[in-house]
Amino acid sequence: MKKLIVANWKCNPKSLQEAKKLFDTIKKATKSIKETEVVICPPFLYLPVLKTKGSKIKLGAQNCFWEEQGAFDGEISPPMLKSVGCSYVIVGHSERRRLFKETDTMINKKIKALIRANLISILCVGETEEEKNKGKFTQVISDQIKKALKGVSRKDIQKVIIAYEPVWAIGTGRACRPIEAQVVHLFIRKIIARLYSRKIAERLPILYGGSVNQKNALDYLKESGMKGLLIGGASLRAKEFIKIIYDTERI
Ligand code: 13P
Repeated sequence: MKKLIVANWKCNPKSLQEAKKLFDTIKKATKSIKETEVVICPPFLYLPVLKTKGSKIKLGAQNCFWEEQGAFDGEISPPMLKSVGCSYVIVGHSERRRLFKETDTMINKKIKALIRANLISILCVGETEEEKNKGKFTQVISDQIKKALKGVSRKDIQKVIIAYEPVWAIGTGRACRPIEAQVVHLFIRKIIARLYSRKIAERLPILYGGSVNQKNALDYLKESGMKGLLIGGASLRAKEFIKIIYDTERI
């Protein structure tokens, strides 16, 4: 299976022109990649404008609603995302949990709605600094996974990817050490094996996210056994992001 490099642009860049420029630079530079799946998750508005045709890039969204349509002001549904060419959707990012009070129940509904729309969910889990210091990370992560996947069948779990994003490492420049990421990686597999089966756990892609840059990116893929990366800040710097993709191609 290919390695997965996911760009989470968050609420960036400020204009459509800048978004197009960044996207086109990445698109041009990644035409010949073979071993890596590159997914770009821009703000919703830019999704239908960024043209993936003739490229290896897939589009993803950073959030979604759980109903298909109706009187839900300001929300965007999975079928809408599908209709503009999205293949992936990030769910339960810590910024959404913290700033918009997203709960595990809401995240569970979103994952089920994405499964119905045949889209791949990238479920984000991770502990805060306080939880880490109290030695609670196993409990936090296992709770987040169990609640998010409640009622998701053995067949449908194949449409889910898990991203381990320690909250204390996001946007801080304090990346998690690859050995720590590896411990969590194995722990996540153990939970999935308990909930589903060992075979399913072995196949489920797990990504790392949090202060990934061109210097540390490969450590997670080589040393932590991660299937890919979920990249914030560095994905907005075309040169750095492209370098990460090319380095990934070579492992
Ligand atoms: P940074 O790479 O900027 O730390 O962001 C990580 C992230 O939140 C990706 O979803």
